[in-house]
Amino acid sequence: MSTAAHDRLIRPARNIIGSLRLPGDKSISHRYAMLGGFAEGTSRFTNFSTGADCASTLACMAELGARVSRTGPDSVEITGVAGRVTPPAHLLDCGNSGSTMRMISGLLAPQSGRFTLIGDASLSRRPMDRIRKPLEAMGARLTLTDGHAPLTIDGGPLRAIDYATPVPSAQVKSSILFAALQTAGPTSILEEVRTRDHSELALRAFGARLSRKGPSISISGPQSLHAIDAAVPGDLSSAAFFLSAAALFPGSSLVLDSMGLNPTRAALLDVLTTLGARINVLNLEEKHSELAGVVQITAPPEGLGAIEVSGALAAQLIDELPVLAAIAPFTGGGIRIRGARELRVKESDRIALVARNLRAMGAEVTEFDDGLDVPGGQSLHGAVIDSGGDHRIAMAFSVAALRASGDTLIHGADSAAISFPEFFDLLDQVAEH
Ligand code: S3P
Repeated sequence: MSTAAHDRLIRPARNIIGSLRLPGDKSISHRYAMLGGFAEGTSRFTNFSTGADCASTLACMAELGARVSRTGPDSVEITGVAGRVTPPAHLLDCGNSGSTMRMISGLLAPQSGRFTLIGDASLSRRPMDRIRKPLEAMGARLTLTDGHAPLTIDGGPLRAIDYATPVPSAQVKSSILFAALQTAGPTSILEEVRTRDHSELALRAFGARLSRKGPSISISGPQSLHAIDAAVPGDLSSAAFFLSAAALFPGSSLVLDSMGLNPTRAALLDVLTTLGARINVLNLEEKHSELAGVVQITAPPEGLGAIEVSGALAAQLIDELPVLAAIAPFTGGGIRIRGARELRVKESDRIALVARNLRAMGAEVTEFDDGLDVPGGQSLHGAVIDSGGDHRIAMAFSVAALRASGDTLIHGADSAAISFPEFFDLLDQVAEH
């Protein structure tokens, strides 16, 4: 098979062995960039995400008046606008990043001026009504194009609200929190399913006060933020590809240093343990209330078992589901995923693409509106994979390809750079052929 510039050939591997330090968490980097860009003073971040998505956030914050400088390949210094953004001279380009568009909208809705946010073809298909509704309930004016970007915000003072999020979404929760921070009075957000809490922890790190009681978060504005220095822990959603790969090879041994272990993000470790992988977590430490530590994994000699992922667990594992589905044929009892309809409105329709690519590799799979059933005990052959330009699909099938017979060609493999530009180089370091 010949490979074009955007493609990548993956050869079957014999084992996964090594020790890696992964780039900084994408979710935390977005929030630190937004809040650092909004705060008073100069924040310094190390191990900042190297992904293109977080570069989109930094570029937007610079366009809004923050002074952003890259002080190293993964270190960033940001002098914030002290609570008042500059009306941008250009459209705010969020690239491929839903997090950027949804969360910055909350930051901008209470600011005076007109802001237009755009994104690439994939982002322009993704639902934005979910932020329009709460922000309009606060009195903001948002204009969408058929429920999607381009999105124009005519900002101005807002009023506090009580809001129950209809879909579990940390992005929507964060958007409301960032608007409420600047709005007089108490706002409360009720989330039935607990989503990642990086915004709550980051707001506190930057000096804001907010409280959580059961499923409800309350914040009273207006409050100001103050710069911080922070080291971003490694991205567990990026680690998911390596942990899943290591889980496939009896005799594997992988050590991941300084990994983010925030409990609202760590469900994958439980799932891999349930499947039979042996996982150790060492040297736990806390940085600005974010947990980090060393993760060691080795695969069970008897092979992986089975699991069903649904309900709250599906929401918490949403970014890791593609790779779990991609390794499911190599488990003993299969993996069944339900209650994950949100996968259809990510960077691609991840349910459809996972099913199509598993079938291309010779697997049997049942597709549901809200999930997939992938029986275990299957052998896959190498195939041509269509990543659909979706980073997590490209990386998930690179992992499945390690256990297939014959080579696999990943089309659109360059999309890995959205979250994890180093992915293929690091895979080369730990995959033994
Ligand atoms: C993210 C939240 C999730 C996740 C995305 C990052 C975040 O999206 O899929 O990759 O950083 O808050 P939703 O909030 O839409 O569930």
